[in-house]
Amino acid sequence: APAKTEDFVATIPAGVFAETVTSVQHYTDHLFRFRMTRPESFRFRSGEFAMIGLMVGDKPIYRAYSIASPAWDEELEFFSIKVPDGPLTSHLQQIKPGDTVLMRKKPTGTLVLDALTPGKQLYMFSTGTGIAPFASLIRDPETYEKFDEVILTHTCREVAELKYGFDLVEEIRNHEFLAEVVGDKLRHYATVTREDFPFQGRITDLIANGKMFADLGVPRFDPAIDRGMICGSSAMLKETKALLEQAGLTEGANSKPAEFVIERAFVD
Ligand code: A2P
Repeated sequence: APAKTEDFVATIPAGVFAETVTSVQHYTDHLFRFRMTRPESFRFRSGEFAMIGLMVGDKPIYRAYSIASPAWDEELEFFSIKVPDGPLTSHLQQIKPGDTVLMRKKPTGTLVLDALTPGKQLYMFSTGTGIAPFASLIRDPETYEKFDEVILTHTCREVAELKYGFDLVEEIRNHEFLAEVVGDKLRHYATVTREDFPFQGRITDLIANGKMFADLGVPRFDPAIDRGMICGSSAMLKETKALLEQAGLTEGANSKPAEFVIERAFVD
């Protein structure tokens, strides 16, 4: 017999939110985005992550997901990889509008504006799904109140993987209110490493050899005015962090704001 709603609700663990998927968009065989309802009592700061889960059999499986939507949005958005045998993403990639997704109640994270000291220019360095926290921050007016210029870098293996980022920037430019708030303060620097594209190479190499600065027409990092946020694989974090430290920037945290902050991107 088909499961009745009561049967399903009965299996949802206590003390977590159970939200409804509102849209799903697949970008590649490995990447998709979904949006879901936002509980009225759920508050977070743009750039934070939450524990997202699904009931798999009779038990919940959770993973940390950066919230890709800004704090003012009435829905929640997430950008996810699809790992064929990933404990969560092998199931999550099947979701459809109307399905239920679980979320633990407390968001957290270091990629928040509060963890940075005031500056003029904010760099957001991302690889792969590491763009997710920045998808939130570039849509938050507070980012543009605190910084004169925001430079989002996104590096992926293939061009198709950059689409989410290009769509975001396009959405901002066409948005009734954000377009005005953002103006020409947002710059998007997208590069790929395993296909032909006008901009090619790992962001670490492009910083080290100066090409990123030349392409953007900006001076090299200056700890007096430049701030950074980094989200990617462990190796990418380590190498990008070393480049910022070489330039004299120091790592901050919620409890001790400084010149840059880092957070590991999702792995299933
Ligand atoms: P590459 O193709 O040269 O490995 P992944 O999916 O493996 O995390 O890679 C996402 C993107 O991040 C790819 O373009 C990849 O480049 C790049 N990347 C991988 N490792 C590093 C690193 N240590 N520093 C900078 N970029 C990296």
